[in-house]
Amino acid sequence: MKGVALYFFVTAVLAVTGGMIWGIQMSATGNHMLAGAHAHLNLVGWATMALFGIYYHLTPAASEAALAKIHYGVALAGLVIMVPGIVQAIRQTGETMAKIGSVLTLLSMVIFLVTVLIHARRTT
Ligand code: HEM
Repeated sequence: MKGVALYFFVTAVLAVTGGMIWGIQMSATGNHMLAGAHAHLNLVGWATMALFGIYYHLTPAASEAALAKIHYGVALAGLVIMVPGIVQAIRQTGETMAKIGSVLTLLSMVIFLVTVLIHARRTT
């Protein structure tokens, strides 16, 4: 694994490592208030990023395209803005970061949709 595929995969593993530590902390303290943010770190950070990484590993032509690096940048920005944004939203201290992060996360999936369609057409 190399390039964008590796970037996505390393990001995913970092996210789930942090997400698991966060889960243990919630269990140990008995305070599950931030469970929604923990869930998004794991599902958007680990599951989604890992799937992106596997796709780019299996589709080298897609990983070499300039759009792949844009995809990684938008997805990473979405994750690091959205998760603290959900924490803020749960604590009722603001919703701006959650809104910006969620739109970036959606945009990253739209970029991925475009990538999948472009490369599906090229290989059929
Ligand atoms: C060491 C590993 C983990 C620990 C100790 C842990 C712990 C927790 C705890 C204590 C809760 C709150 C449960 C509740 O309030 O009912 C929770 C919720 C949740 N966790 Fe984890 N978790 C871990 C890993 C993961 C992973 C890897 C994922 C997903 C890939 C995940 C997804 C979720 C989801 C979807 C929820 C529900 C959130 C909600 O109800 O708002 N967790 N976890």
